[in-house]
Amino acid sequence: MSDLKKNWVGEKMDISNQERSVLKKIIASRRSIFPKQFTGDTIPDQIIAELLDLAHMAPNHKNTMPWRYFVYSGKSLRALLDFKKEFYLKKTPADMVKKTKLQAFEDRKEQASHIIAIVNHKNESVNLLKWEELAAVSCSVQNICLSLHSYGIGGYWSTGNLAGSQEIRDYLNLSDNEEFMGFLYLGVPVAGAAEVNREPIGNRVKWMNK
Ligand SMILES: Cc1cc2nc3c(=O)[nH]c(=O)nc-3n(C[C@H](O)[C@H](O)[C@H](O)COP(=O)(O)O)c2cc1C
Repeated sequence: MSDLKKNWVGEKMDISNQERSVLKKIIASRRSIFPKQFTGDTIPDQIIAELLDLAHMAPNHKNTMPWRYFVYSGKSLRALLDFKKEFYLKKTPADMVKKTKLQAFEDRKEQASHIIAIVNHKNESVNLLKWEELAAVSCSVQNICLSLHSYGIGGYWSTGNLAGSQEIRDYLNLSDNEEFMGFLYLGVPVAGAAEVNREPIGNRVKWMNK
């Protein structure tokens, strides 16, 4: 086997075929799982901490590690959902308010184990494009999404209408260099997720090899 070939089958990193196929399986079978599909059981904080350790391994330019996570559970999770409900009531004309939507905020208190607020913390002392740090935070979130799937935890990334609002900035007490990027809802799933149904990547890729 050539040296090049050796690199590409992971031998230099001591990753076996079996381990690689596990990784492929995790990536290919990850799906968003929504609170309605959670049992309401609690995930140990220790597991959440492990997910966050893996989030911290994401690539980032100039080592700024721009991700910040605020983890809500128990009382603080219920207070967060009350705040979300108040925001919905404030922004929605009275005749448009849906009872089902109001009930969903209450249901989520029972369904979700943890809610993690995702924040981009821009490092002002380093000259980076803004999107580089947003991209790094997104990589970090994807580490969480893949890891939680491997633990059998359900979750999804929710931005909703709070994203971009002053209200959520105030709630999280963000500085001028910080930006809210949504919530991760985490819970114990009732069942496995449906199969991923994606058309082949072909027409989204151009091979510039001629
Ligand atoms: C940045 C981002 C924001 C999202 N915000 C929402 C949201 O506000 N509400 C929602 O239902 N899903 C949201 N999603 C989840 C997507 O709907 C979901 O990833 C998409 O349907 C693909 O499904 P999959 O994750 O199962 O592959 C968001 C996903 C991303 C990456």
